[in-house]
Amino acid sequence: MKPVEIKKDIYWVGMVNFASHNFHGYAISPRGTTYNCYVVKDEKNVLFDTVQADHSEDMLARLRQVIEPEKIDYIVINHVELDHAGALAEMVEVCKPEKIFCSPMGLKSMASYFDISGWPVQAVKTGEVLNIGKRNIHFVETRMLHWPDSMFSYIPEDKLLISNDAFGQNIASYCRFAHEIDEKEALTNFIEEYYFNIVLPFSSQVLKTLDLVTELKLDIDMIAPDHGVIFKGQKDVGFILNKYREMAEQKPRKKALIFYDTMWRSTETLANYIGCGLDQVGVPYRVMYLKNHHHSQIMTELAKCSAIIPGSPTHNNGIMPLVAGVLTYMKGLRPQNLVGGAFGSYGWSGESTRDLTGWLDAMKVEQPAEPVKCLFRPTKADLEAAENLGRKVGEALIAKCEK
Ligand code: FEO
Repeated sequence: MKPVEIKKDIYWVGMVNFASHNFHGYAISPRGTTYNCYVVKDEKNVLFDTVQADHSEDMLARLRQVIEPEKIDYIVINHVELDHAGALAEMVEVCKPEKIFCSPMGLKSMASYFDISGWPVQAVKTGEVLNIGKRNIHFVETRMLHWPDSMFSYIPEDKLLISNDAFGQNIASYCRFAHEIDEKEALTNFIEEYYFNIVLPFSSQVLKTLDLVTELKLDIDMIAPDHGVIFKGQKDVGFILNKYREMAEQKPRKKALIFYDTMWRSTETLANYIGCGLDQVGVPYRVMYLKNHHHSQIMTELAKCSAIIPGSPTHNNGIMPLVAGVLTYMKGLRPQNLVGGAFGSYGWSGESTRDLTGWLDAMKVEQPAEPVKCLFRPTKADLEAAENLGRKVGEALIAKCEK
């Protein structure tokens, strides 16, 4: 893939990874991913971020089409996680930069990952400005968005915000810009997938950062993240900023998510009757059987839902491992403002609904009805109870949405 000039004398020189469907070892990325990095040619030539170490040759080949690496004067590392800093040692070796800039927290993590003795590293804080000739780089620390070291680089002369992980998506595509992607709905899904699996716990920092962008009066007509496509022009920039505010606020969304594991289909039958109950009160829903879906796909679906209804048979006095895995993952991502309920079948002791209710309590999920449990096979009364659970959760969700 060729380098792409995204603004005059500013080039994308990153790496599109069509092959990797595993993101950082904990999420799946069915459409691959990208590691974006950018070069600005000015009186001082600047490289913003790098790629994973195993893709450094690919990146260097692209960089060489734009500039001889030895002519890079400065390297800015907006975030030291290894998908962006993995090739840093090699770039330092090849480019021999005059300076390497990162945030103060970045300096600490850089010193942990690399032997930086002899590297010309300089920490920069929010408000510091680096002149590179016709342009100035303004640094904005964005702590915990999504690591303590994360920062943005803003170039006012180009109205360009290089945003690192923020505003990213896991998508490997020939397209470099959002407006080139035909499937707008798919792009929204990729933005939600990325946010709900990576950024969600840091939503309060997102809102603070969006306020800071307004407060600093940053005039932006391009947002260039380090993953996925670039947002160019006021319409697309406005779209992604608004989308981030919407996701960070976690306002109620009128859709329910039922997810479950099952052994002999009793819990699955309950899941379907809970769906009928939701349907009766006009709440759309999705049922996800966990043997068919990765935990990160459950979180991606949660971007559209504000009700969660987990189900599990009782197994070894507890819940099934796939259900426990999803709930562990979900709780860590700290979703807010949810309603829900629990269900499951049992044969002897029946602890699963107790455990599921405990997970919902731990996530502060409002539970408008008692959990539904059935002995071996659901009876007519159990199926009516399941429908009732669906109705009650649906009504509570409608009330939340109408508040
Ligand atoms: Fe894309 Fe936090 O690394």
